[in-house]
Amino acid sequence: MNFSYLNPTKIFFGQGQIASITDAIALSKKILVVYGGGSVKKNGVYQQVENALSEHTWVAFSGVEANPTKETMDKAVALIKEQNIDFILAVGGGSVIDGAKYAAAAAHYDGDGWDILTGDYKPEIATPIGVILTIPATGSESNGNSVITKQETQQKLAFASESVQPQFAVMDPDVMKTLPEKQLINGIVDAWVHVCEQYIAKPEGALVQDGYSEALLRALKTLGESYAERDNDLWRANLMWTANQALNGLLSLGVMQDWATHMIGHELTALWHVDHARSLAIIQPSLLRNQIEYKREKLEQMGKNVFNLVAGSDLAERTIDAIESFYHDLGVATQLTEHSGDKNAAVEAVLTKLESHGLTALTENQSVTLSEARQILNSAIA
Ligand code: NZQ
Ligand code: ZN
Repeated sequence: MNFSYLNPTKIFFGQGQIASITDAIALSKKILVVYGGGSVKKNGVYQQVENALSEHTWVAFSGVEANPTKETMDKAVALIKEQNIDFILAVGGGSVIDGAKYAAAAAHYDGDGWDILTGDYKPEIATPIGVILTIPATGSESNGNSVITKQETQQKLAFASESVQPQFAVMDPDVMKTLPEKQLINGIVDAWVHVCEQYIAKPEGALVQDGYSEALLRALKTLGESYAERDNDLWRANLMWTANQALNGLLSLGVMQDWATHMIGHELTALWHVDHARSLAIIQPSLLRNQIEYKREKLEQMGKNVFNLVAGSDLAERTIDAIESFYHDLGVATQLTEHSGDKNAAVEAVLTKLESHGLTALTENQSVTLSEARQILNSAIA
């Protein structure tokens, strides 16, 4: 497949790099510093931002929740307009960064910002964004994607636009020292599934994308297996860089992509507030088993090159088992238990959401229809 490729986000990687923002943002800019529930105040990251911006003009917007809502971010949109903000510094994880992207685009639109998520408005201009990443997981720090929830209707939708691609991203692995275990593990799982979504599809003989995907999967497998050594500079640096590379636009070039696990997973988060990464681990093994005949060749390749499994007619099945064991070894469940009430009602609730979002022909083959989704959910929901 043909492609054009540009990733303009400048990365400042390594310990002490937060200080780089002093020169990375022009003194003439009026900055909005956006952050979440306050972890950055406790772990010294905010203090480093204050030090670095001591000569700049800036105001702060806090309270972006995990799985950021349109309702909260519309308050940031109002602030951007009111204060004539011309640069946004997002200090946080995927949620803060995605929230900042929504606000950056919605601030240049007179209608309801939700139109960006429904596709009724396609942003071409946005307030420029810089990022200080505090949790490696989503890759949002150097891509143009954003996932936003509308609380009112329990909808979680995504948009992608070059206009919200961050200008720079600071990635200092030291910020990970205060991450709760759960979030650290979420980062490994999310990055893993990002690679899978771009790799376990139709074989296309793209040697570079396949080889790089396998290198990233082996890196994540090694980090999972050496999880006991996580309080270590090299371990942290490796996870931060791997998660970034997993979704910076490179792996998907010229190849078909799946993303069905993400689309169904988003509905679990919208309905029951399941952490993003956990929603993926719940859906993916059941989805791969359901779609195995479309994905057999790539699963066999993954079994051989990532898990070192021996050849055999059931290699694809054993690869899915190995993926599931990888999650279980990290203490991550592969069945949903967060739903209240009975299983059938939960399955129907997800199907209704998928249908209302037009997600009725998912994967690279459009082969996950609502009837396949029902089978997947019947196995993924306890
Ligand atoms: O809000 P604070 O207090 O900062 O706490 C956060 C939050 O509770 C905490 N945290 C972050 N850095 C920390 C820290 N706690 C202690 N020390 C630190 N250094 O971690 C919690 C989770 O943060 P969040 O930003 O929600 O995590 P993540 O990076 O996993 O982002 C998840 C969101 O990104 C979306 C997901 O759907 C979800 O909404 N995604 C975005 C993508 C993209 N833009 O490309 C792709 C992904 O597939 C994903 O869909
Ligand atoms: Zn993800």
